[in-house]
Amino acid sequence: MKIKKIAVLTSGGDSPGMNTALRAVVRTCAYSKIECVGVSRGFQGLINNELKILNTRSVRGIINRGGTMLYSARSKEFRLKEGRVMAYENLKKNKIDALVIIGGDGSFTGGMIFQNEFNFPVVGIPGTIDNDLYGTTHTLGYDTALNTVMEAIDKIRDTAISHDRLFFVEVMGRDAGHIALNSGIAIGAQEILIPEQNIGIDQLVVSLKKSKKAGKTSSIVVVAEGDKTGSNVFELAKSVEKKFPDYEIKVSVLGHMQRGGSPSCFDRVLGTRMGVKAVESLINGDFSKMVGVKEGKITLTPLQSAIKGKSKIDSELLRVSEIMNT
Ligand code: F6P
Repeated sequence: MKIKKIAVLTSGGDSPGMNTALRAVVRTCAYSKIECVGVSRGFQGLINNELKILNTRSVRGIINRGGTMLYSARSKEFRLKEGRVMAYENLKKNKIDALVIIGGDGSFTGGMIFQNEFNFPVVGIPGTIDNDLYGTTHTLGYDTALNTVMEAIDKIRDTAISHDRLFFVEVMGRDAGHIALNSGIAIGAQEILIPEQNIGIDQLVVSLKKSKKAGKTSSIVVVAEGDKTGSNVFELAKSVEKKFPDYEIKVSVLGHMQRGGSPSCFDRVLGTRMGVKAVESLINGDFSKMVGVKEGKITLTPLQSAIKGKSKIDSELLRVSEIMNT
């Protein structure tokens, strides 16, 4: 089948680099003489027929911009068969042959169901700060988010040192500890709590006591949003406070600032390469794949494995972090 017209959308939580990938998709389409249509607000925009033709000029000046020029959404309607039928009808009505989805695992799951139901070609670009997809060592936006978190915690550390305080800093990652683990190592955290490895409150207290004994007057504990050591970071901090009555404890939740901002150089190059590969894989009839990067090379992984496999935490990083805490 010859691809003549491609639609592209951004879906789920936005991530820095989505605009960069969008620009690359649009320009690769222009280079390959394929028409490109942007869909606003993810799958919801497909249902509502919110489409607009994009050309090379439509995407000028966005390579460095955070967020997504196409807007993003988590569509409830697309989870229903009726919603997906409407989306399919709009694609057919607009003579669109294939779809590029820039998003995370939830968006890819929707895309897979859609592809299987209507035999409609899709390809995914992993745009999420969580880095939680199998088949790529880096998702788009992850590197930028890590740098954002590192800079924020560096600042928190300044005030922590000045006041002899213990800070619990919550970072994003509903089910994955990649952001916490890597940023934690980068800022020299005393402990890093991630959903993949429940160290338990007792071990945390032992570690903090040890660091106090060694003469540390302030510390940072990085906590992934999805960590289960306490019911939430505030409860966790309260439990620890009981064991350290003389230690002033503060909690800082970094929140959505981690998803914003201008993409790093790494994410701009990655997003551009991924956008090119996504269009080329559709041209080559290589559907139902996720574009990724492994050992510096751009790769394709079946969407199914990307979603189901999840990316594993690097045990070497856990070991390194433990050594640093001695
Ligand atoms: O998946 C990306 C992510 O930023 C997660 O880390 C976080 O748990 C979630 O999105 C937050 O989603 P929302 O913006 O819908 O609150």
